Amino acid sequence: MSEVAVAAVSVRPAASADLEAVQALLRTADLPIDGVADQFDYGYVVSEVGGTVMGVAGLEVYGSYGLLRSVAVAPEWRGRGVAAALVADRVEWGAVRGLRAIYLLTTTAKQYFGEHGFAVIDRDDVPAAIRRSAEFAKVCPSTATAMELRIAARASSCCGAQFTNAIDTNDAEGLKAAVREKYGSAASRAAGGAKSSCCGDSPDEVWDPITADLYEDAETQGLPAEALLASLGCGNPTALAELHEGEVVLDLGSGGGIDVLLSARRVGPTGRAYGLDMTDEMLELARANQARAGAANVEFLKGDIEAIPLPDASVDVIISNCVINLAADKAKVLREAFRVLRPGGRFAVSDIVVTREVPAPVRRSMELWMGCVAGALHRDEYMALLAEAGFEDIDLEPTRVYNAADADAFGVDTGISGAELDGAFMSAFVRARRPGS
Ligand SMILES: C[S@@+](CC[C@H](N)C(=O)[O-])C[C@H]1O[C@@H](n2cnc3c(N)ncnc32)[C@H](O)[C@@H]1O
Repeated sequence: MSEVAVAAVSVRPAASADLEAVQALLRTADLPIDGVADQFDYGYVVSEVGGTVMGVAGLEVYGSYGLLRSVAVAPEWRGRGVAAALVADRVEWGAVRGLRAIYLLTTTAKQYFGEHGFAVIDRDDVPAAIRRSAEFAKVCPSTATAMELRIAARASSCCGAQFTNAIDTNDAEGLKAAVREKYGSAASRAAGGAKSSCCGDSPDEVWDPITADLYEDAETQGLPAEALLASLGCGNPTALAELHEGEVVLDLGSGGGIDVLLSARRVGPTGRAYGLDMTDEMLELARANQARAGAANVEFLKGDIEAIPLPDASVDVIISNCVINLAADKAKVLREAFRVLRPGGRFAVSDIVVTREVPAPVRRSMELWMGCVAGALHRDEYMALLAEAGFEDIDLEPTRVYNAADADAFGVDTGISGAELDGAFMSAFVRARRPGS
């Protein structure tokens, strides 16, 4: 099928209000609607003309993989490049999200998708997470052809150069260096008695919707002031994690050490609290805070949460506070967390997640990545990655949902208004358990 391009096809994230029109479009195109509502406000985009939706494409996310489906264009608009623009948008979005590959099923458009870089593969070679989707498991006939697009081969073109501060999620070392620099200076500011902000570098006294008021005064009494000043989390994992006497706790990305010191109090002298961080200034600050607090059952380790420097099955509880969203390879972090937990061990983490798709400029803002926002996983993706790593009893509980005013306070000039991000981000408490006892 060759297409004559229309001058400019606009593509925008789908909103719940578009669902009915999209389902009608899919019926016209003889495509299934089962399961479309599940990830509609996250991975779907539409094109419209004069307020009428005339094109749709969805990229559903299952762990590290994407499923391209529901590519449909109204009959009168076919052959004008609308489908190509929608598919290109979804592929780019998948690349920016760090997906490993995108899959699809087709009965009629094998050649078309072939022209867009998809290759036919055996259905049995499709990852299990994708095979469990509604599209694969229920609605598409077994005669449909499975196709695959590996993202790595296209990665270099994923991040447009139009954003001066664009992140490249494939440049893991570059991302880590930027994170170290940002949190190194935050540690130095805290050591000098000044407060930092998780979201950018707000001056003192500016209210930060993410880090403000996370701890009750009673629980932080007796902790060094520098530990509180360095608090850059988005929740209070130790309050929710139900720690017991004698347990071994590991805090991934422990920063100035506030959650490690709180954990140490809860697990008592027979327990142990480890903090792991890769930023030298943070480790120095955390160790100084440990000395000020006189905590003997605490140890701060230098290392990367993607390669935890502890033996297999050596930890009872993993906590973390607003750090996993900063990792380039989140699946690796979760696999490492699983490895070091004892059978029956708990994962109890505060993190930022998204509830629907957010515009590309926000996703690609280096400053917002550093501020724990741009790298946030969708809540379903987070849970799917935990399941992929082997966890069970997975649960995600919202603790703070950010409204338009909060999003404005993220304070970054991406050209996206706070109103467009209203409710798109939330802090959540994520629980899971390593099977066994
Ligand atoms: C947003 S701060 C949170 C600090 C702390 N959890 C708190 O609640 O105050 C992120 C911390 O994670 C650390 N970090 C980020 N990525 C990391 C990685 N890949 N490995 C180890 N530490 C990391 C940073 O150095 C920084 O101290």
